[in-house]
Amino acid sequence: PIPLIIDTDPGVDDAVALMLAVASPEVDLRAVTTVFGNVALPQTTRNAGRVLALAGRTGVPVAAGAARPLVHDRAERAEQWHGGDGLGGRADALPDPTAAPDARGAVAVMAAVLREAAEPVTIAPIGPLTNVALLLAVHPELAPRIGRIVWMGGSLGAGNVTGAAEFNAHCDPEAAHRVLTQADVPVTMVPLDLTHRCPAGPDWLAALAAGGPRGHELAQVVGHYRVAFRARHGVDAVALHDAVAVLEAIAPGTLRTDPTPLAVACDLGPARGATVPGGTGPAVAVAVDADVGAVLGAVLERVGRLG
Ligand code: BDR
Ligand code: CA
Repeated sequence: PIPLIIDTDPGVDDAVALMLAVASPEVDLRAVTTVFGNVALPQTTRNAGRVLALAGRTGVPVAAGAARPLVHDRAERAEQWHGGDGLGGRADALPDPTAAPDARGAVAVMAAVLREAAEPVTIAPIGPLTNVALLLAVHPELAPRIGRIVWMGGSLGAGNVTGAAEFNAHCDPEAAHRVLTQADVPVTMVPLDLTHRCPAGPDWLAALAAGGPRGHELAQVVGHYRVAFRARHGVDAVALHDAVAVLEAIAPGTLRTDPTPLAVACDLGPARGATVPGGTGPAVAVAVDADVGAVLGAVLERVGRLG
């Protein structure tokens, strides 16, 4: 199996993505590292431990990383989508984490996994890129041990926080700039343009809920997110952003990608956080297309294996 680190800010779609990784034998989930984002860091860290407990996976270290972005802290949160607790009001209904967070912290835990793994490690960041930027800055010697970075974030079209910027990019544009334009590692970006084209509708959610107690609880977590999507987009369907990226990390080639050098707007104007084609950095594999039915089916089938 591919050794995998998920860097996350749970987050409803992060929770689906974590369950998906636990359920997939193609990957060996070596660590879950957490970052500020949808809610504050202490909550994302607790939530990550709770979701792993719900998934029935013990022994995976959870380590807290950055509580704020590298340069400009705007205390941006996404509680309107994910609920004040980050898990649709269901965080306290989930089992408690089975272990305390790893005291070494996110960057040290990621570095240890990279050093110890016999094969190249995939890192799947599904939140702001702060921890990954710090890892690359503190441990440049470990970059060759990273097989791929598969990030959910960015947008080549409209944003979801501002007209120009997607949430994860907007939370820490300087970190996104570091990772997307200077990483020395193959980077795949799974942008909003694509994830918005993979909507999980009522049938999908009903099948998730019917799958077993874990699926049922996960469907409850998605409930508030579903209401928020209906209010914002007028449709009864949710975008499983992070799960789409993690599926690509698990099954490389699931998404069709286009190699595109990118630039990230880091000025404080209205374009801040926009990810735009151009620049002189290495090409990023930007996910542009997918068999939507197959993606949704794979996520459902795999999470369903957890019962
Ligand atoms: C991204 O922002 C967060 O709210 C989601 O968890 C996802 O990672 C989508 O823009
Ligand atoms: Ca996320």
